[in-house]
Amino acid sequence: MSRWADNIAPMTETAHLRCIRPECAATYTLDEIAYACRSCGSLLDVVYDWDKLPVPGTLRFFSERWARRGQPLDFSGVWRFRELLPLAGDADLVTIGEGQTLLQAPKVAALDLPLAAGRVYFQYEGMNPSGSFKDNGMAAAFTMARRLGRGRVACASTGNTSASLAMYAALTSLKDGRPMRGIVFVGAGKIAYGKLSQALDSGALTLQIDGDFDACMKRIREVADRLGLYLMNSINPFRLEGQKTIMYRVLEGLGWDVPDWIVVPGGNLGNTSAFGKAFVELKGLGLITKMPQLAVVNAAGANTLNELVTRRGLKWNRGHWEQPAVDGFYDDLTKAGKKAQTVATAIEIARPVNLPKALRAIEAMDGIVCEVSDEQILEEKARIGRCGFGCEPASAASLAGLRQLVSRGVVDRDARVVCILTGHGLKDPGATVGYHTGQTMMDESAGAQLGRLANQPLKVADDLEAICAMIEERA
Ligand code: F0G
Repeated sequence: MSRWADNIAPMTETAHLRCIRPECAATYTLDEIAYACRSCGSLLDVVYDWDKLPVPGTLRFFSERWARRGQPLDFSGVWRFRELLPLAGDADLVTIGEGQTLLQAPKVAALDLPLAAGRVYFQYEGMNPSGSFKDNGMAAAFTMARRLGRGRVACASTGNTSASLAMYAALTSLKDGRPMRGIVFVGAGKIAYGKLSQALDSGALTLQIDGDFDACMKRIREVADRLGLYLMNSINPFRLEGQKTIMYRVLEGLGWDVPDWIVVPGGNLGNTSAFGKAFVELKGLGLITKMPQLAVVNAAGANTLNELVTRRGLKWNRGHWEQPAVDGFYDDLTKAGKKAQTVATAIEIARPVNLPKALRAIEAMDGIVCEVSDEQILEEKARIGRCGFGCEPASAASLAGLRQLVSRGVVDRDARVVCILTGHGLKDPGATVGYHTGQTMMDESAGAQLGRLANQPLKVADDLEAICAMIEERA
C-alpha cells in the first residue's frame, strides 16, 4: 500500500461496472461486489467517464513518470499509468513494486525466425515481484479489496494467480490495519512446484482440490458466494484493468509507437481481454491512431478458443456471440470426459471464463487464434532460454505461435511483433529439466526423444583424468 498521497480525491463517481452485452448494459457502482451481471449473467467491464477525468493529451506524458520513480506510485509499472485506470485516489492505490518489466529485443538470429532484424520483442513479465504478469492485475484487484473492506481474498489457480495473490495478501492490510488473508484453490497434482512453493511461503491458506483448474474455478465461485470471500480471478474486472498496463509498457518500450502484432498465450483469456480493452480505450481517447493485431495462442491440449473461433467460426458479433454453441461445446467435453492437458500447465484450461471478452478483443484487434503442440512449446522455451530469457512453458507458446503464423504467411516478414513472456523460467524447473533430460519430449511411436536443444547433464566419475578428458572432448 502506498503512503504517498497527493490529495487527488477518490474518483468513485467517474467509474462504474457495466454488463458487456450491449442490449443488457446493466450498470453497478464500484462499491457493489459483482463479477457477473445480476440480470443476464454476462461478464462485467469497468467503464470510465473519461470526459470528467484528467486524461493526458499524449502518451508521452507518462515518460516523465519514470524519472520520478523514487515515489512508489511512479515506480509501479501499473500506477505510473494511473490516469488510464482511475480506480481510486492516489492514497488508496496498492502497490508492491509490480510492473518493472521492460520490452526486450532478443537477437532474431538466435530465434531462427525469418523476420527482419530488430523486429521481434519480448515483453518479459517474469520480472514481476511474484515472477509472472499476474501482479499487474493484483495491484488493481487489491486496491478494490481494500476499498471494499474485504480481508479474505480468494482465487482458483494453475499456480501463478495463487502465487501473486498470496504475496499481495501477505504485504497488504485493510484501511483499518487488519491483515488480509489469502485463500487459494489449486488442482491436486496440477501445479508446478515453483508456484506452489510461493503460495505456501507467503502464508496463504492453500487447498488442493481433487480436480483440475476448471473444477477449482467452478467451486471457488460457490465458496466465495457462500463465505463472502473476495474473488481475485480474472473474472474480477479490476484484475483486467491492471493487466492493461502491460500494453502501455509495450508502447513505452517502442517510443509510443504501435507494433503490428501482439502475440499472447491464451488460458483463462484475461490478458487477451485486457489487451483488447487497453487498445480500444487508447484509440477512443485519441492517444493512438492504429490498432495492433492480436494473436492468441492455445496449447493443443487446451484449445477451446481455437476450436470455437478458428474451426467453428465463433465471433463477438457486436455482442451477439452464440452462447448455445459454447454451451454445446462444453457439454460435449463433459460427455466425453475430456479435460485440458498440456505441459504448459499454466494454460491447462478448457473453460476460459473470459471467453466473450476475448471474442470482443479479437474482433477489435483483427485478431487470430492458433494452437501449438507441447513439443513446439518446449522447443521454443529452450530457444528463449538460449536468448537469455528464462520462461515457463505457457509463455513459450507465444513464440511457437509466432513461428507458425510466420510460416503460414499470416504475419509478414517485416512485421514488428511483441511476444508476451508471461512467467519466469524458475516457476517450473521440472519442465525445463524434463526437456533437457528427455523426460518430457515423449513421442509415442519412438519412445522418449530428446529435444533439438536438449543439454543433458553428463555423469562422470570423480576422477581428474576422466573429468578433464570429458571437458576437452565437449567444450
Ligand atoms: N501464462 C502464464 C504463465 C499463466 O500463469 C497464465 C494463466 C497464462 C499465461 C494465461 O493467461 O489466463 O490471461 O489467458 N494463469 C492462471 C493462473 C490461469 O491461475 O495462474 P490468461
